[in-house]
Amino acid sequence: ESIALWGGRFTSGPSPELSQLSKSTQFDWRLADDDITGSRAHARALARAGLLSDDELHRMETSLDELQRRVDTGEFVPQQSDEDEATALERGLLEIAGDELGGKLRAGRSRNDQIAALIRMWLRRHARVVAKDVLGLVASIIKQSQTAGTTVMPGRTHMQHAQPVLLAHQLMAHAWPLLRDVDRLVDWDKRADASPYGSGALAGNTLGLDPQAVAKDLGFSRVTDNSIDGTASRDAVAEFAFIAAMIGVDLSRLSEEIIIWNTQEFAFVRLDDAYSTGSSIMPQKKNPDIAELARGKAGRLIGDLTGLMTTLKGLPTAYARDLQEDKEAVFDQVDTLEVVLPAFSGMVATLQFDGKRLEEEAPTGFALATDIAEWLVKHGVPFRHAHELSGACVKRAEGQSEELWDLKDSDFIEIFDGFIDGDLAPQVREVLTTQGSVKARNGKGGTAPERVSEQIHDAENKMKAL
Ligand code: ARG
Repeated sequence: ESIALWGGRFTSGPSPELSQLSKSTQFDWRLADDDITGSRAHARALARAGLLSDDELHRMETSLDELQRRVDTGEFVPQQSDEDEATALERGLLEIAGDELGGKLRAGRSRNDQIAALIRMWLRRHARVVAKDVLGLVASIIKQSQTAGTTVMPGRTHMQHAQPVLLAHQLMAHAWPLLRDVDRLVDWDKRADASPYGSGALAGNTLGLDPQAVAKDLGFSRVTDNSIDGTASRDAVAEFAFIAAMIGVDLSRLSEEIIIWNTQEFAFVRLDDAYSTGSSIMPQKKNPDIAELARGKAGRLIGDLTGLMTTLKGLPTAYARDLQEDKEAVFDQVDTLEVVLPAFSGMVATLQFDGKRLEEEAPTGFALATDIAEWLVKHGVPFRHAHELSGACVKRAEGQSEELWDLKDSDFIEIFDGFIDGDLAPQVREVLTTQGSVKARNGKGGTAPERVSEQIHDAENKMKAL
């Protein structure tokens, strides 16, 4: 038999159309465990306030154990007529404990403070799973960076050859944003760590319940400071949604690199068979579907954030039913990330880079032109001129369809004339190697091999600290 939690002043039950619209069990049932945990804490608070006897508390706890068991086994599930998970669980409790005892649990709480607490509990737990998965991916990136050693590749800006960089440096450029995302989750948790339980519908409770004790039972270190804010705010949910969207964006950026590197034209990297897919018509195909799905799902993760922010905008401040819309957004984000991250991590761990090809490509496209300019600066030429002289070298090499190191001594002597002695000019060749080029970029954060090793080491320490 169906129960509503609010029938008293109504002469009729809800219309079927309303029930259909109002029902949220299809997505909020996953909060059932947290709801039962909350109910245990609430029962203890009622007992401490003298509203449940020792015996009643005992029977309530046994009933909640039984309810949990039925939920776990699937013996108890929501019915069509249950408005939300809280309604369903109330029905379940009444079935087990009877109306007399079961009907006492609702005192002093509202679904408004309840749901605000539950979404935080659920998110805090899943934030830990997501963080662990992100760290797993970072570990895969670090491992690849270590394997890459001093392999040099073309570093690009505007997708054009810019300056050679270590492959490890380029890979680690994706590890740091992900580490910051985990940092964000850790930091977010500090703000999410406040229990709205005890806020009641909006104004607090009259029954002498101790929200502090409930908070502690539910793993929160404190209680929200304002019961209206506690029930009405969802910035804790929105901030989580931003971090999830940011992780999506960070994955998408790495996806894009992998997809491009994996093209026949680039051929920088090969995907492992277990982490790529074929085509139903073209037998030769090996597609980077994991990277593409991750890139595509970034759109969806951002959409979830955008939808939620739009829902929150302009709500009058205390509970409004709009707030029910917070859940699907973040459930979808968590579900998405929890399948994307492990697959992505496996794909990264099994990438096979073509070191020989990367090394060959690294200096091409006049990628060492900056090194010529900086060599000139070291020999006293003002950078403005040095830039021009190096540009003249590029122009000449390009005109002869050559690379910079193919220029003759006489070319350098002629181009540098008036700035560099003729004896010295050809010595510019000493910087025309990729290893020399990367080695020279040895300031903190630079691509010099020693700096990159340091960087990997720092990232490992950061990982341990998170
Ligand atoms: N299911 C609602 C939610 O998820 C909580 C119920 C509050 N309903 C109400 N009429 N006050 O936000």
